[in-house]
Amino acid sequence: MPSPSREIQIAPSILASNFVELARELRSIESADLIHVDVMDGHFVPNLTIGPPVVAAIKKVAPRPLDVHLMIERPEQYLEAYIDAGADILGVHAEACPHLHGTLGQIRKLGEQKQRRVRSCAVLNPSTPAEALEYALEEMDQILVMTVNPGFGGQSFIEAMLPKIEKIRGWIERRGLAIDLEVDGGITAKNIARAASAGANVFVAGTSVFGESDRKLAIEALRRAAS
Ligand code: DX5
Ligand code: ZN
Repeated sequence: MPSPSREIQIAPSILASNFVELARELRSIESADLIHVDVMDGHFVPNLTIGPPVVAAIKKVAPRPLDVHLMIERPEQYLEAYIDAGADILGVHAEACPHLHGTLGQIRKLGEQKQRRVRSCAVLNPSTPAEALEYALEEMDQILVMTVNPGFGGQSFIEAMLPKIEKIRGWIERRGLAIDLEVDGGITAKNIARAASAGANVFVAGTSVFGESDRKLAIEALRRAAS
């Protein structure tokens, strides 16, 4: 019986959706658990996507909570803008945060000030060891282990991330922490079981959901393979 923090959650990434038809695309994934929103600034990663006004527009029609993944420099300067735009989970990269512990605390505090529960998430690039966030575990509601180098959808899952996922799951279980463990990048119905066995319980999926014509079936296939 998985603990509450190990509930399987599927989070389609709208990066792989048709932005012209975004409202319809969002309706097509109502059977998902979360909606993953990739924010890129052209500096932290070599690609640009969307900012707070588009996140606010998505929030108005989103059928599920928003899992906002900030791939930006100086994320601490923009936390309030993304919380006001409607982020329910807000993820910041350890590599972009010289004061990671403080920035994660700030996410929770800003949520409380606005009388909302905003969950903090720490994100690790593939090249960053798990130990980079160990000191700040108490400040996290979620950890995101990148399984591709961030910046683009449609890349291949990096298998070498599995031991990192196992290590972090071990910390969560041994310390009895209520932290969700998310993976992002190259997740398919073929490899999701390996990420789940290593200890992940939240799965971002762009191409493997929006690349299929029947999104409900695609989400179901991922959920079944992860369970
Ligand atoms: C990559 C993004 C991912 C991406 C995943 O930088 O953070 O969320 O959209 O897309 P797929 O599932 O196609 O690898
Ligand atoms: Zn992402």
